[in-house]
Amino acid sequence: MAFPTDRPRRLRVNQAVRRLVEETKLAPSELVLPMFVKEGLTEPRPLSAMPGVVQHSRESLRKAAAEAVRAGVGGIMLFGVPLEKDPEGSGGLDENGILNVAIRDVISEVGDATVVMGDLCLDEFTSHGHCGVLDAQGRVDNDATLESYATMAVAQADAGVHMVGPSGMMDGQVGVIRQSLDAAGYQDVGILAYAAKYASAFYGPFREAVESSLEGDRRTYQQDPANFRDALREVALDVEEGADIVMVKPALTNLDVIAAVRAAVTIPVAAYQISGEYAMVEAAAANGWVDRERALLETLTSIRRAGAQIILTYWATEAAALLRSRY
Ligand code: PBG
Repeated sequence: MAFPTDRPRRLRVNQAVRRLVEETKLAPSELVLPMFVKEGLTEPRPLSAMPGVVQHSRESLRKAAAEAVRAGVGGIMLFGVPLEKDPEGSGGLDENGILNVAIRDVISEVGDATVVMGDLCLDEFTSHGHCGVLDAQGRVDNDATLESYATMAVAQADAGVHMVGPSGMMDGQVGVIRQSLDAAGYQDVGILAYAAKYASAFYGPFREAVESSLEGDRRTYQQDPANFRDALREVALDVEEGADIVMVKPALTNLDVIAAVRAAVTIPVAAYQISGEYAMVEAAAANGWVDRERALLETLTSIRRAGAQIILTYWATEAAALLRSRY
């Protein structure tokens, strides 16, 4: 009988050895918590498709933001849900709109103890649910939308946001937003660009979170999941237009894209573990089909290992606490 000369199992023999050779470590500061705030709520409202996630009231948002900071998260990404939506998504541009009010609230609560970001997109605010304004034929009008984004960026910066997160996938959005921020004197407000964003079925639960009744789909602006090279093109454009961080989204279905983007750019790479990714694990765990904590940490570790240095995840606060007890 020939014995193996190479025994990889020796490095897995117990927890101490495994810990010593563990390559991928996650830090709380690499996690960003997306949060929803709904205008007019007095109590937080649970989301059925995302157990553990709520639409916050202004009050509960402040508390949860402070809790996330105590857990050590690296950032917070805010989404606002207005009471009234209109075709222009005007609530997103209004300085007294729910998102801008929430940015002020969170900044006054946490200051610069964490990076406060605002979603820069119209879909939470439009009655038709699209990420931009529509032209006479009902198509999403790229350049008219850019004008709205330019205004939105400055409104968020006026409210004190540290970084804006343009997620609408309009051509030229990063460049226009950069120019608009600079012209208003906000050179230091950063751009976390949703650079490679795919048209995904896994955004489903997010629709409940922002009460979006989308007419049609987003395939004229978000990317086809079948395409890889398109992601590199989008990322290159965003870098050229002035993105500070580029993001890939969804995360788990695009680990190959994350790895390639990591190799292609020198700025930080983020990935968004989206609502449907969260919901799948929660649903399986609720049925006793997977071990919840292990599963959530495994997904985060894989996304990190693929090359995302920053991860947006609805588990951020909990995962930060788990990681702290681990290392
Ligand atoms: C657009 C936006 C979406 C998400 C984040 N920003 C929805 C979409 O593009 O359809 C989805 C996030 C998630 O599913 O968790 N403002």
